[in-house]
Amino acid sequence: MTTRISLNGDIQPEAHISVFDHGFLFGDSVYEVVSTYKGRLCFVQEHLKRLLNSARAISLEIPLADDAMMREIEKTVEAAGNPESYIRIIVTRGVGEIDIDPESCTRPNVLIFVIHAMPYPKENYTHGIKVALVSIKRNPKEALNPGIKTGNYLNNVLAKMEARQVGAADALMLNPTGQLTECTTSNFFFVCDQRLMTPSLDCGILSGITREVVLRLARENGVLVEEGEWPPEILQNAEEAFITGTIKRVMPVTSLDGRPIGEGKPGPITKMMMRLYEDVLISL
Ligand SMILES: Cc1ncc(COP(=O)(O)O)c(C=O)c1O
Repeated sequence: MTTRISLNGDIQPEAHISVFDHGFLFGDSVYEVVSTYKGRLCFVQEHLKRLLNSARAISLEIPLADDAMMREIEKTVEAAGNPESYIRIIVTRGVGEIDIDPESCTRPNVLIFVIHAMPYPKENYTHGIKVALVSIKRNPKEALNPGIKTGNYLNNVLAKMEARQVGAADALMLNPTGQLTECTTSNFFFVCDQRLMTPSLDCGILSGITREVVLRLARENGVLVEEGEWPPEILQNAEEAFITGTIKRVMPVTSLDGRPIGEGKPGPITKMMMRLYEDVLISL
């Protein structure tokens, strides 16, 4: 399967970036991941909007307008020619001096990676995955706001390693005040008393594009939805749980810290949201 990378408009099978790029030196970059469904780009306008907002939040000017970025994405996807694509768009601060001050970086680098999308194993959807509540906290909003999708993911890398050590597929993180937030690359939902609940944006999470679609679908289909702030103890009463993300879509979570959630299998609201989300992708 083919990989194509556009580096500032030059599309090649490989790309090289300077070690003086502040994206490499300091994680000073923003990014998005877009997927395709039956070859069509999913929610690309929403991703480009979030990319722009992330860039604005770190005072990084993207050197391409949305329509030029869109054309470059399409060209790179076409050049790769895979049946389904994983597309990673990265804008770095660019090359500068080895100094944390971005003042010396004059030109951001724009990378568009296109690789063949590898689906997650089927069992993740039929049986659900194990998640562990980890000791690593999500960054507080007042520090590196998790609402900004930057290339600085070390916090989440550490959380993922902690989860792996206890045999879980992913980590659920709390914020510094002890409320539930999200997993390392996905948003978290759970069901209590037939209500679909998810940490609010105020908890310090990424406003996931899949999360937004799932919330809309739930409301449109008569599911009671609550966005709020909760300590992890609330999960003792959870009947179901799932995570959402561009590549994962809606993935059931059936075990937390080695204990089953509800009956330990994907529940009816989870299955309904999986189906509704697939229907939206089909209709794009
Ligand atoms: C920390 C975090 N939360 C949530 C998500 C899910 O966001 P989306 O649904 O837009 O892919 C991601 C995706 O990468 C993420 O990194």
